[in-house]
Amino acid sequence: MGEFSAVILAAGEGTRMKSNTPKVLHKICGYPMLHYVINCARGAGADEIVVVVGRGAEEVKKAFENENVKFVLQPEQKGTGHALMQAEEEVKGSKYIMVLYGDMPLIKPETLKNLFNFHIENQPAATVLTCEFDNPYGYGRIIKKEGRVVAIREEKDAKKEEKLIKEINSGIYCFETQKVFSALKNVKNENRQGEYYLTDVVEIFNNEGEKVLAFKIENPDEVHGINDRVQLAKARAIMQKEIVENLMKDGVTFINPESCVVDAGVKIGRDTVIYPGAVIEGKTQIGESCLILGNSVIRDSKIGNNVEILSSFVVESEIGDGVKIGPFANLRPGTRLSSHVKIGDFVEVKNSTVGEGTKIPHLSYVGDAEIGAGVNIGAGVIFVNYDGYKKHKTVVQDNAFIGCNSNLIAPLKIEEGAYVAAGSTLTKDVPGKALAIARAKQENKPGWVEKRKKIFEGGKTNGGEQA
Ligand code: UD1
Ligand code: CA
Repeated sequence: MGEFSAVILAAGEGTRMKSNTPKVLHKICGYPMLHYVINCARGAGADEIVVVVGRGAEEVKKAFENENVKFVLQPEQKGTGHALMQAEEEVKGSKYIMVLYGDMPLIKPETLKNLFNFHIENQPAATVLTCEFDNPYGYGRIIKKEGRVVAIREEKDAKKEEKLIKEINSGIYCFETQKVFSALKNVKNENRQGEYYLTDVVEIFNNEGEKVLAFKIENPDEVHGINDRVQLAKARAIMQKEIVENLMKDGVTFINPESCVVDAGVKIGRDTVIYPGAVIEGKTQIGESCLILGNSVIRDSKIGNNVEILSSFVVESEIGDGVKIGPFANLRPGTRLSSHVKIGDFVEVKNSTVGEGTKIPHLSYVGDAEIGAGVNIGAGVIFVNYDGYKKHKTVVQDNAFIGCNSNLIAPLKIEEGAYVAAGSTLTKDVPGKALAIARAKQENKPGWVEKRKKIFEGGKTNGGEQA
């Protein structure tokens, strides 16, 4: 069975990125660029995907260990031709191979399918995916004669008149497997970079009387290669525009689409409105009719319907329907809010569940807590969850009322319907419907202000009551 194997070259130095991270692991819209190339090859129907790794091989392998791809090592980076040779053993059983570069994440599966069909219909030794660029600088130029490709000339090796050619080599090819590996044996490294160029097989094929064809596509964005940070930003902009436009087509309003960061794979329901500057990342899902204000960061979270998130952070959290968050709240990993919860300004929640309709409206820290439904947490309440060695849990049952500025020292349980007086520091459990007061009793000293005034302003230096 099967039609073709894909080989993705991803071993290069990535020198122009000036980075400690291997180039193909640099992220675009939430995923490493190589992720998109692998997905695309799979989407186009590749039977098998082989990734050639070199620079940062271990890191790259680790990032894709669950992706059902094979890795081969190119121990030294001697060029794209040399890189492909490393994959020969893995793919020689397939009649055709498609070669892709790991630094072109915008290519579409449909395009690869069309390329493959073209190759099958025309049966050349090689088909090169090409495109016309207004500014072809840096790309290999396609040199044609009578409709066939006779050579691909790299920028650094091109003559003046060759540099004027606008049709470029995308770096994606279809080959008849056996023919490309035998041609590669004749590739030499006599060029400006001292590398074994894969592109040189084109001239070798021509010398052997084999035909090489170009399959030219219209959309230059798809074959935008990434060699440096400027090209990385451009690729991100192209992908971001597409992600946001697809969401808008599905009924999401973006007030200013260019200003938002939305990762690939984020899902947002219809009639949700996203204000400028929102950052929505990872595996986030947002329901319908939500309002997300600017400066909100939502990462790897599940948000229900009719939720308001006002300039707040929500990370690895689950938020029920009708919840209101912020402005300026910080929901950290493990936060689970039931429906109609209210989390107000300057409230931090971590690893806690909060029951339906509970309100935590101002200035609180809630850590490692299990809070029931209908609870009111007053302003400035602190869940004291850490004793310097361990974290402890606090349970607050349904309909309890915690007065302002209380400290709940965990482990602690406040049972159903209990009241905690404002300013209490609790170390003992509170039974249901009881009132707990844990604070110093108030004492009023009549006339104290006048007495003090005499001490400091009446000529005396000592004596009298201490202030
Ligand atoms: C390459 C093409 C050029 C094309 C351009 C498209 C060659 C010689 N040139 O140039 O015609 O227009 O891509 O973007 O092929 N790699 C290895 N091992 C190596 C060298 C490179 O695996 O020894 C991998 C890199 O990781 C990268 C890909 O091959 O994913 C392309 O290498 P790169 O150095 O970026 O080639 P370009 O100069 O962009
Ligand atoms: Ca490149």
